[in-house]
Amino acid sequence: MNILVTGGAGYIGSVATEELTKAGHAAVVYDNLVYGHREAVHATAVFEEGDLADKDLLDRLFSAHAIDAVMHFAAHSIIPVSMRDPIPFVRDNVTNAMNLMEVMANHEVKRFILSSTANVYGDPERVPIEENDRLAPSSPYGESKLMIERMLHWCEVRYGLRYASLRYFNAAGASENHGEDHDPETHLIPLVLKVALGLKDRLDIYGDDYPTRDGTCVRDYIHVVDLAQAHVLALEALDESSCVYNLGNGQGFTVQEVVAAARAVTAQPIPAQIAPRRSGDPATLVAGSDKIRRELGWKPRHPDLRDIIESAWRWTQAHPTGYPTGYAR
Ligand SMILES: NC(=O)c1ccc[n+]([C@@H]2O[C@H](COP(=O)([O-])OP(=O)(O)OC[C@H]3O[C@@H](n4cnc5c(N)ncnc54)[C@H](O)[C@@H]3O)[C@@H](O)[C@H]2O)c1
Repeated sequence: MNILVTGGAGYIGSVATEELTKAGHAAVVYDNLVYGHREAVHATAVFEEGDLADKDLLDRLFSAHAIDAVMHFAAHSIIPVSMRDPIPFVRDNVTNAMNLMEVMANHEVKRFILSSTANVYGDPERVPIEENDRLAPSSPYGESKLMIERMLHWCEVRYGLRYASLRYFNAAGASENHGEDHDPETHLIPLVLKVALGLKDRLDIYGDDYPTRDGTCVRDYIHVVDLAQAHVLALEALDESSCVYNLGNGQGFTVQEVVAAARAVTAQPIPAQIAPRRSGDPATLVAGSDKIRRELGWKPRHPDLRDIIESAWRWTQAHPTGYPTGYAR
């Protein structure tokens, strides 16, 4: 199939493009490079630089490349920014997704895969979290993804769109070719590795008074290659029906445990200090991912936290300052 990968110059989109091409699909990456990097676009993909606000360009692109399916990674996704300035953040995420769905409807393209998030559950009533649990986003970021999920349902009703909403927990690690390079970086593992490399003095741990094993937040880390492979499976299953899946390992680690694992992998001291809690951070987020395992036969190949950190460390050592070019911002 010809797959349009929005945000394919970003972290997860670049690895998904790599996995899609390994599975025999052709990828067209559409990205405005606001958070992404030209060098992150996988070598086998066609690259079209553009913004999702530009419906005319999208329309031309669908005609030029005979697109069969869309994987929609492009979004604003920094939670603290969404807490500070929710209106433009939510407006862009939702409007850009609507533009995409509208152009898809006009071109009768009926397969859509959404990068959704565990944030749609907010502070969960129980863990592991199942797909049918209460939806109560803890940030405007999560709210924007939930709005898109709900619109996908109405696009299915009206236009026969088939969709997979994949609710990621914490993507981490690297493939051989692609790793994580955000600015600002807000994700734990790349920040820890920046400290290990000496690019940052110390790590801030946001809160140590949560009701968890050691008081720091518990999160579920999923290897980015496992995450990308789930997209390929979900794409192939879309002919059957639309679906919503959690994507995580089903095992939670505290921030302190991640730091300890990173100290072991890197053999560096990684100084850390406790900082105030951030608003919108639930104490524990762990995925119940039985549904995708059962229905699509997905199984993470790299569930071990050390393996995940080792892959990120290899990539970080090979690219200590990230990809060669910065941002289009
Ligand atoms: N990284 C995680 O752990 C995680 C967890 C849950 C959900 N997600 C979701 O997964 C997706 C990918 O995450 P990521 O970490 O790879 O993000 P990223 O910022 O690395 O990649 C997003 C890409 O989208 C591009 N983009 C943004 N706005 C655009 C626009 N208007 N037009 C065209 N391109 C645009 C950026 O330039 C960037 O290359 C996001 O939607 C994010 O919300 C990520």
